[in-house]
Amino acid sequence: MKTILITGALGQIGTALTTRLREKYGVENVIATDIQHPETSSVVKNGIFEYLDVTDQLSMEQMVEKYEVDTMIHLAALLSATAEAKPQLAWELNMGGLMNALEVSRIHELKFFTPSSIGAFGPQTPKDQTPQLTLQRPTTMYGVTKVSGELLCDYYHMKFGVDTRSVRFPGLISYEALPGGGTTDYAVDIYYEALKNQAYTSFIDKGTYMDMMYMPDAVDAIIALMEAPSEKLIHRNAFNVSAMSVCPEDFEQAIQAHMPAFKLSYDVDPIRQTIAESWPNAIDTTKAREEWQFDTQYSLDRMTADMLEKLKTKLLK
Ligand code: SER
Repeated sequence: MKTILITGALGQIGTALTTRLREKYGVENVIATDIQHPETSSVVKNGIFEYLDVTDQLSMEQMVEKYEVDTMIHLAALLSATAEAKPQLAWELNMGGLMNALEVSRIHELKFFTPSSIGAFGPQTPKDQTPQLTLQRPTTMYGVTKVSGELLCDYYHMKFGVDTRSVRFPGLISYEALPGGGTTDYAVDIYYEALKNQAYTSFIDKGTYMDMMYMPDAVDAIIALMEAPSEKLIHRNAFNVSAMSVCPEDFEQAIQAHMPAFKLSYDVDPIRQTIAESWPNAIDTTKAREEWQFDTQYSLDRMTADMLEKLKTKLLK
């Protein structure tokens, strides 16, 4: 990776990843792009930033040529709950954008990363220790685009030799940009509300387990996978990764260790609850560990301490 183009750079992953890539590869070698351009964002202020609509392949190609890009990190996509509300748009953006990004990567011989998700699994998938290779029959539009995306990325690798790589991210928790429109968003909201109101009403029901991971670990995972020698990768699109399998009560206890007055209540959203129940409880990350030494630093308790500290500073500003 020398010159990296990021799409969806103002999203939850993009905001954290852009900062880290600028530190690691040099500000002049990271081209952040998005369809929004808020002047207040650090992504826009602290480096190269360009407007790019991923459904416009010509503009994407011109951007790659202008900056002599050699790596594409394609993040622009709708998350699960938004995709369920707007399924046609989700297909158009998630698949149309991916196809354009893959085509540009094929033509210009770029190294390629795009995230898949635990959303690529469905109700018939084994719920615990979900294997790398297993039944994938998702029942959400988001999941349909993620499975199709995994297959398309594998196809571009097999047919055209494009160096495509991906992980199935679990719910990602971060203090910078908000996720927005996801089923696992409760795990981010809970920290904001804990600090603002010492209370949170969860839209996901008690006892609902899903995989999660702290953003610094997610960013490390992308870099580790992209830096791994190509010949070591057997699975490519896409590796199971996770740091913890947790339910709302686990967050409640972890937050109460810092704020004993914190109270958790429930007002379950049937749409997001159904999505959550169609996903695994805990996925098996063995292949990522074997093939590119995937690892994580943050447990629930360590993440909670860091989230509360970082968010406190942010909310006081
Ligand atoms: N965090 C995502 C969502 O909830 C899962 O990939 O939609």
